[in-house]
Amino acid sequence: MVTIGTPFTERAKKVLLCGSGELGKEVVIELQRYGVEVVACDAYENAPAMQVADRAYVFSMLDGAELRRVIEKEAPDFVVPEVEAIATDVLAEMEAEGVATIIPTARATQLTMNREGIRRMAAEELGCVSSPYRFAGNLVEYEAAVAEVGLPCVVKPIMSSSGKGQSTLRTEAEILPAWEYAQEGGRAGAGKVIVEGFVDFDYEITLLTIRHVGGTSFCDPIGHIQVDGDYRESWQPQPMSELALQRAQEMAAKVTENLGGRGVFGVELFIKGDEVIFSEVSPRPHDTGMVTMISQDLSQFSLHARAILGLPIPNICTHGPSASCAHVVVGNSEKVCFGQVDQALAEPDTQLRLFGKPAVVGKRRMAVGLARGRDIEQARAKARGVIGALETDL
Ligand SMILES: Nc1ncnc2c1ncn2[C@@H]1O[C@H](COP(=O)(O)OP(=O)(O)OP(=O)(O)O)[C@@H](O)[C@H]1O
Ligand SMILES: [Mg+2]
Repeated sequence: MVTIGTPFTERAKKVLLCGSGELGKEVVIELQRYGVEVVACDAYENAPAMQVADRAYVFSMLDGAELRRVIEKEAPDFVVPEVEAIATDVLAEMEAEGVATIIPTARATQLTMNREGIRRMAAEELGCVSSPYRFAGNLVEYEAAVAEVGLPCVVKPIMSSSGKGQSTLRTEAEILPAWEYAQEGGRAGAGKVIVEGFVDFDYEITLLTIRHVGGTSFCDPIGHIQVDGDYRESWQPQPMSELALQRAQEMAAKVTENLGGRGVFGVELFIKGDEVIFSEVSPRPHDTGMVTMISQDLSQFSLHARAILGLPIPNICTHGPSASCAHVVVGNSEKVCFGQVDQALAEPDTQLRLFGKPAVVGKRRMAVGLARGRDIEQARAKARGVIGALETDL
């Protein structure tokens, strides 16, 4: 039996969010609909999810001592990681002590924050097909790794996301610069890299997989386009052969079962013909999954909230071909203003989310356009149109 008490009383159901970006903001909104008391944490003030949460704490999620202090002080029913970069060892300790329930599990957050952990688990333990790979901790190992994997290949810091420090190597001349770039782009500074064989895929998907009280459910596959390792457009449903879809679901079920717990997972897969190649997995909603805010009656955020709270997910209704387009702003500002918002939403079956991020330094995703269409192409064109119409005043 699931009970949810009144917020701000001792009977409240309480969630503490680690990371407060645009995906977290939607998770908070969905939890608020059930009257859950939500505490949002991130390293900067006025982060998107903080703007809709009940309370906020500002500290680095990598500061283990502060993370422990805040979790002990708030004593939430659930700790919900929203980013990869967290002091996950503290989450593991607190889970083991029985102090907190981590979504989906502390081990899942530990394995997926490090490319080595998740790749070895999926490929070596579970036997999932992946690109060939080697790990390297210094230049000598790195040169040997590139020689073994061969060109073309992709080099990434083992701790990084959104394409930071990542490069695709096609010629010998690119080998050394890629190492230096990876050393600058890693979250924990210089360190180990993964060298992966380049996969010449037909298309790539995110298979949103939900582990919930009633079992495991899948959303329709989401296709997407990445620029410099950062997502720009996604759409759903991505057409797939029956065999490829079946293999993708089998792989996603196996990987997420190993990670365990309850919640939404974004399983990233490359598809070539009927072949499915494992890439990586997020144990939380996925940026490409923002399309589900217009394509499904229960978005990935709403599904995450249900899975966390132990509520049933008997079915997921879909509304037909849909797409999302990210608005990536380049520049420096602490008072970004969007114009022509009315123009952006002039077309039927379109939506817009402005994340409300307090600052842009360099390059930052600030909004997303959403659309439904008669087919994927039209939906994508409409979603691009939403963002295209928007004026950005830095
Ligand atoms: N081995 C590969 N072969 C071909 N393309 C690749 C390979 N690895 C990564 N890519 C491309 O780069 C994109 C980003 O890679 P990956 O997901 O590993 O990085 P990331 O930094 O974790 O990105 P994000 O955090 O946005 O998911 C992939 O979605 C894919 O388009
Ligand atoms: Mg990825």
